[in-house]
Amino acid sequence: MNEAGGTRRGGLVATPETLRRVFVMRENDSARETLVKYMEQILFGLQDFLRRHVGITEEVPIKELSSRYMDSTISLEPEKRLAEVITGLIKEIAPHAVNVSSPYFVGHMTGAMPFFMVHLQTIVAALNQNVVKVETSKVVSIVEKETLAKIHRLIFKLDDGFYNAHIQSPSTSLGGFVEDGTLANLTALWVARDRLLAPRDGFEGVEREGVPAAYKEYGIDRLVVIVSQLGHYSLRKSGGVLGIGNQNVLPVPVDRHNKIDVNRLRALLDDLRANEPKTRVLALVGIAGATETGTVDPLERLADIAQERGIHFHVDAAWGGPTLFSEKYRHVLSGIERADSVTIDGHKQFYMPMTCGMVYFKDPNAMDAIAYHSNYVARPGSVDLGIRSLAGSRPSTALILHGALKVMGQRGYALLIDHGIDLAREFALEIQRRPNFQLLTPPELNILTYRYCPANVQEWLDAANCEERRRITIRLNRGNMLLQRRQREHGKSFVSRTTLRRPEQRGGDMVVLRSVLMNPMTTIGILKEILDEQEAMARGELAKAFTV
Ligand SMILES: Cc1ncc(COP(=O)(O)O)c(C=O)c1O
Repeated sequence: MNEAGGTRRGGLVATPETLRRVFVMRENDSARETLVKYMEQILFGLQDFLRRHVGITEEVPIKELSSRYMDSTISLEPEKRLAEVITGLIKEIAPHAVNVSSPYFVGHMTGAMPFFMVHLQTIVAALNQNVVKVETSKVVSIVEKETLAKIHRLIFKLDDGFYNAHIQSPSTSLGGFVEDGTLANLTALWVARDRLLAPRDGFEGVEREGVPAAYKEYGIDRLVVIVSQLGHYSLRKSGGVLGIGNQNVLPVPVDRHNKIDVNRLRALLDDLRANEPKTRVLALVGIAGATETGTVDPLERLADIAQERGIHFHVDAAWGGPTLFSEKYRHVLSGIERADSVTIDGHKQFYMPMTCGMVYFKDPNAMDAIAYHSNYVARPGSVDLGIRSLAGSRPSTALILHGALKVMGQRGYALLIDHGIDLAREFALEIQRRPNFQLLTPPELNILTYRYCPANVQEWLDAANCEERRRITIRLNRGNMLLQRRQREHGKSFVSRTTLRRPEQRGGDMVVLRSVLMNPMTTIGILKEILDEQEAMARGELAKAFTV
């Protein structure tokens, strides 16, 4: 007999008694020992497993894994004891999940966490607070407000008086915890939309009356959001959800440094003003750490433009935000303090567990535009955090960040940021040193892209006409795609891949390998091994693919 299962003829069975035991912590010492053993198994068994397997994942294809999970029935009686479930997770699931904490896993914005995050996460689960309302969270909602103030201050650097007034004010909000970066961007644009199409005499606002009525009231027929072509696709999703249409998220080309081309931006705004009097700009978005290239838009110049033209200025710092901790590199984000709203993700460079999105507003009254009340929760005047939040019930993720900021301090986070950027620069030099690789986007933060391109092909490309260049690029695109896939399948290391837009005359769209260097255990030695492996594959099993 165990947990939800009693035993009957060797099998397990659910009874009121066994159910009671699942819910109530048993008090005798042997039961406590059992629980502690399970926790140890989870906390250390999994960790030990990951430590032993530096590789990324076992070499079992997705198709075969799918065939192992084909049972759509739920067994009537309990199937397994908790110990068996935990062992199964460690032995059967973990090896086929992705070991994102491996220092050889340098392809995505998901990576190793400091181990204490698992403990903090466990406490959040154990407390099971629901911060939609103070009645189910009490001090935890108050801690969330303090945490919001700390990050708000990191971004906007306002004075003591401001934070004293707002840190625990029930009537204002410095921002909010949301599920992820996508919902942070959505919330920022939601607030911007509702403030632009606000209630006024005889009109109750877009939130209440809807987009068609608001357009009619304000005499417009289109709202647009402007961002560089490297904008995250969550902005397009937001366009869809907010009813402005995702085709109205307008991409502006980037310059040769992968930053929004400010001249093209100005030209677009002038054109809209001159030729589309019924179009209004909902928001101008600057990126602080573009997903594909890690580049940062010229935030000061964007802030100037937004200010001149009275446009809501949002900065998507989902990735790059924590760069503000670094004395050495925070200048790269200069201008972020002039934003009206900012997105930052905790599960990215705050090294928190999945997931923690955050959105911040400079104006502590901005989120009033999206306030909702009901009779049983989120009552007017209460501290209920559900008043100004897209989500209803949600976990007390802020507790994790609150704890992490104490364990790490600004300097701890700065060390992580500095390591990533310094390493990316060293890696860029190594790529440039190797004749068969091409560095394509040098790192501004800790992300860079490159591709395998044999030295002789580079020479041909330089001499090629437009048509030949396109043909060679297509060939290289396929080669690099195969290379990335092969290396992933091989299972020791992982870089990701994306396609960068490039004009036809320069060969057209280009498939590139992408490295995200966030794991402090990743060294230049490891990165050299990754390049060595790629080179060996490209010269060996994939040699044909790179013959042009
Ligand atoms: C710049 C940027 N913004 C927003 C997002 C969306 O974040 P999430 O995946 O947490 O929704 C990402 C994710 O990679 C990102 O890189």
